[in-house]
Amino acid sequence: MKSIDCAAVVSIREVVEGHYLLTLHVPRRYLRALPGQFVMLRIHERSVPFLGRPFSIHRVYTRGKHTLMEILFRAAGAGTVACAQLKKGDTVVLTGPLGSGFHVPGRCTDMVLVAGGMGVAPLMFLAEHGAMRPRKRRRVIHCYFGARTASHLYRLARLKTLCTEVKVATDDGSLGYRGTVTDLFLMDLPQFNPNRTALFVCGPDMMFRSMALIMRGSNLSCQVSIEERMACGIGACLGCAVEDEHGIYKRVCKDGPVFDITELHW
Ligand SMILES: Cc1cc2nc3c(=O)[nH]c(=O)nc-3n(C[C@H](O)[C@H](O)[C@H](O)COP(=O)(O)OP(=O)(O)OC[C@H]3O[C@@H](n4cnc5c(N)ncnc54)[C@H](O)[C@@H]3O)c2cc1C
Ligand code: FES
Repeated sequence: MKSIDCAAVVSIREVVEGHYLLTLHVPRRYLRALPGQFVMLRIHERSVPFLGRPFSIHRVYTRGKHTLMEILFRAAGAGTVACAQLKKGDTVVLTGPLGSGFHVPGRCTDMVLVAGGMGVAPLMFLAEHGAMRPRKRRRVIHCYFGARTASHLYRLARLKTLCTEVKVATDDGSLGYRGTVTDLFLMDLPQFNPNRTALFVCGPDMMFRSMALIMRGSNLSCQVSIEERMACGIGACLGCAVEDEHGIYKRVCKDGPVFDITELHW
């Protein structure tokens, strides 16, 4: 169920230069949000920017009687720079939870998360869901996390507490493998059994294209959470349409943002 709510800012913290962790006080129903779903966020009583901006749900949890939601974001342009200037007690207008979440097949014993930069935002929520399962039904969670430099491996310590193993890649070699996270994953690919492994990917466009190439030679099921510019976020304006493999347009906000990698035209 989605609706429009006002949400108060509980805290906002710069985690690394230009990247922020925003904590909001949200309605209790957000506890049912699925990893991969997102919200449209607009700053209350501000007409610029006029449209909300989409953000993945990074974490939802309770503290006392309150339900809190975290969003991890990069100040990229006017809308997100305005979000970075929010202060404790300010109000934002939220629509959500929106879109489809990741689907973890019942037969799956191993989850593989491949995150690039901010792509860790929805994948950490997925890892958190996985880690909350009863011990007997818990899946093995392998995570590959890549970024420009070590300082851009946001919340790495938390990720390590949620996943069975975390391997990192940095462009400059400041931590872990020197190179792309897709190359790091490719080296381990043969160890994953397609019958019981599901792969989940989020990151920049280049990473999706590399992943699509890698997946052409593999039987692993692979879901991607993609980003497009959005106006309405609810399937009404067609502003977020992308072409699928048959040349049919899909709305990222309504049909996605999670898709099977084979569904889309890369
Ligand atoms: C489903 C979904 C989930 C997202 N989750 C997150 C998240 O968790 N954290 C986060 O930091 N960002 C996330 N984004 C991207 C975020 O919405 C954009 O960075 C934001 O809308 C940019 O708005 P702006 O006004 O700051 O920048 P603008 O001035 O509108 O644009 C600044 C730059 O960002 C690019 N851009 C704008 N919109 C998008 C977009 N939707 N996707 C990719 N690039 C864009 C522009 O081309 C431009 O280069 C998500 C996007 C989608 C669709
Ligand atoms: S943003 Fe309007 S249809 Fe997707």
